[in-house]
Amino acid sequence: MLCPNGEIIMDLGLANKRILIVGASKGIGRGIAIGFARENCNIVAVARTASLLEEVKAEALTGGAASFECVVRDIMTCDTRAFARELLDKYGVFDVVVHNVGGSLISRDHLGGADEWNYALKFNATAAIDMNSVLIPPMVERGKGKVIHMSSISAVMLRGNPLYASAKAFLNAYVTTVGRQLAPTGVTLCAVMPGAVAFEGSYWDNFIKQGHPRVNDFLRHHQAIDRFGTPEEVANVVLFLAGDTASFMPAAIIPVDGANM
Ligand SMILES: NC(=O)c1ccc[n+]([C@@H]2O[C@H](COP(=O)([O-])OP(=O)(O)OC[C@H]3O[C@@H](n4cnc5c(N)ncnc54)[C@H](OP(=O)(O)O)[C@@H]3O)[C@@H](O)[C@H]2O)c1
Repeated sequence: MLCPNGEIIMDLGLANKRILIVGASKGIGRGIAIGFARENCNIVAVARTASLLEEVKAEALTGGAASFECVVRDIMTCDTRAFARELLDKYGVFDVVVHNVGGSLISRDHLGGADEWNYALKFNATAAIDMNSVLIPPMVERGKGKVIHMSSISAVMLRGNPLYASAKAFLNAYVTTVGRQLAPTGVTLCAVMPGAVAFEGSYWDNFIKQGHPRVNDFLRHHQAIDRFGTPEEVANVVLFLAGDTASFMPAAIIPVDGANM
């Protein structure tokens, strides 16, 4: 792991490991891809937008990635189990899988029907769970592997969009319960819970650029650190969980939230 000044502060033992990142083309996922690149990993990056993935690839290869494969796929419309099998056939068993796809820009209608709730659940949890049903068994057979989900601090604060908070709370319950089942196999299932993170094109980006009063109001009331997080700050924790040093943390769900309140 690198300090902002480029100094190596911890050897995570990730060099040449095979990493799958689902949702790697922008925002937090992009930060995670660049973080693994600095650890000299072999990265398979999935998203829907080929041009953005190519941009990440160029930055990752310059930044130290041992290899970088772009896979363009929409995990909300494809057969996720078949997709996971295709990835295994092409790239072999992954050392680390990061499930980053998700978000709150879904229906906010708390009285919406099952279709809307199922969409929120699929986007934030069950599409990834479906992939895990194919990706994890060979890890168990090998006796090692790390699977890291991107949850949200909304999962425990239970504020904001009810569909989003509920979907992430379900994801947390999955990580805790299944993570415990997997713990004795050597496979680690865990998650991180970011607070509000800002980056070019993020939900908060426009408000920040406009100097909108919502920004200070939100920070003062909800983020004790009084600033937004960065994708790199979330990526650092994902990298730590992926590395050899995090050897006693199965089923861990780690807040990375600037003391959200
Ligand atoms: N940003 C925050 O403040 C914040 C806070 C707490 C938790 N989180 C969580 O962190 C994760 C990432 O958030 P973010 O803000 O970085 O999101 P984002 O900017 O929307 O990026 C999401 C990534 O997933 C990809 N993606 C989206 N839908 C996809 C699909 N159907 N199939 C394949 N790839 C897809 C996107 O690429 P394409 O558009 O090219 O497909 C992109 O690479 C989410 O799970 C979110 O809930 C974010």
